[in-house]
Amino acid sequence: MRTQVAIIGSGPSGLLLGQLLADAGVDTIILERATKDYVLGRIRAGVLEEGMADMLDEAGAGARMRREGLPHDGFDLTFSGRHHRIDLHALTGKRVVVYGQTEVTRDLMDRREATGGVTIYEAQNVQPHDFDGASPYVTYDKDGVTHRIDCDFIAGCDGFHGPSRKAVEGKGLQTFERVYPFGWLGIVAEVPPVSHELIYCNHPRGFALCSMRSNTRSRYYVQCALDEKVEEWSDDRFWDEIRRRLPAETAEAVTTGPSIEKSIAPLRSFVAEPMRFGRLFLVGDAAHIVPPTGAKGLNLAASDVRYLFDGLRDYYADKSDSGINAYSERALRRVWKAERFSWWMTNTMHRFPDAGPFGQRMQEAELDYLSGSIAAQTSLAENYVGLPY
Ligand code: FAD
Ligand code: DHB
Repeated sequence: MRTQVAIIGSGPSGLLLGQLLADAGVDTIILERATKDYVLGRIRAGVLEEGMADMLDEAGAGARMRREGLPHDGFDLTFSGRHHRIDLHALTGKRVVVYGQTEVTRDLMDRREATGGVTIYEAQNVQPHDFDGASPYVTYDKDGVTHRIDCDFIAGCDGFHGPSRKAVEGKGLQTFERVYPFGWLGIVAEVPPVSHELIYCNHPRGFALCSMRSNTRSRYYVQCALDEKVEEWSDDRFWDEIRRRLPAETAEAVTTGPSIEKSIAPLRSFVAEPMRFGRLFLVGDAAHIVPPTGAKGLNLAASDVRYLFDGLRDYYADKSDSGINAYSERALRRVWKAERFSWWMTNTMHRFPDAGPFGQRMQEAELDYLSGSIAAQTSLAENYVGLPY
């Protein structure tokens, strides 16, 4: 088999890149380890920057997001029992769209199917080869047979645990990492959200977040210790805990109900440099992870795709190498700024077991400064809505 760009991974970055390339007349094959239902069953991010929403439109996959997504003009921070609204629209002229990653993935898969794009699900032992030279290829196993796809380029869109980054270890790859001493316990429930905007809550018992997927489906998170077991968290225990962390009038307004999903995610910051090795590009979570505070993970995957798609389009349309040559540097500049923001927001909103009295006072001063300074709020807001591509 032969294609122009072999894409490993059918998450949001692989699907978005594949669709933009298809619409530009560039041939792709996506190789995905899991089944389609498994990919669609993963509940992850929920907040889209305008830049990402525009890219979904550009890929012809934005119609349902524009219809059903919830545009948000601001969000609340709560600390010391009080609410402080961050007016994103007044501060930046921009807003975000609340629309689940699951729906983004579904819309992109539907569009790929409608436009005849090829995705091979349940591809085992996917491996990139010879990307240092002019003739790279990818191998995979399916139904007991090994297949080979020759290509011009390989896009490693295979997430944090995929084979693409592993293939470049020892080839000049540098990694940077911080692991945080807590996780997020999250649930989804078929209940109306407590507020029409998100609430990020700093509380002595730990961080909490009130989010949503729609006007009838809520997403809530609480900071938890790393050794917590999800089985030890009944729905009642979860609802009691989140209500303790919210200001009293908000806690009273929470509608509780049975959870339809419950899981614990660890928090980590991670960057791999560079993001290009010859004809192999690392894209999205394959190259970087942010802690979820600030909702940047999915949006960063989209900005990587922006830079890589522009580079590949110019390569095929104009025989220009300049965009693909600039990919790693351009993507990493934005990645590091989103890493900084996510790290800052994580530090500002969570309780750290080792903060000590000085660290605690620093956090209180940061929040007090934020609530009284338009300059500080503008900095938060411009990062939250997404820095320009
Ligand atoms: P992924 O979505 O990870 O997609 C990678 C794809 O590659 C997957 O489909 C995977 O099955 C496939 N793959 C892996 N290995 C192979 C292989 N060997 N062969 C072939 N295919 C392979 N971000 C936020 O902004 N807000 C959040 O609330 C949030 N919550 C999250 C919760 C969890 C539990 C996780 C894991 C992530 C969360 N994120 C969140 C991050 C966000 O979901 C990711 O940044 C986003 O999914 C990145 O997209 P991606 O396409 O780069 O990677
Ligand atoms: C969600 C997750 C986040 O990390 C965040 O900052 C906002 C919303 C969510 O899953 O809804």
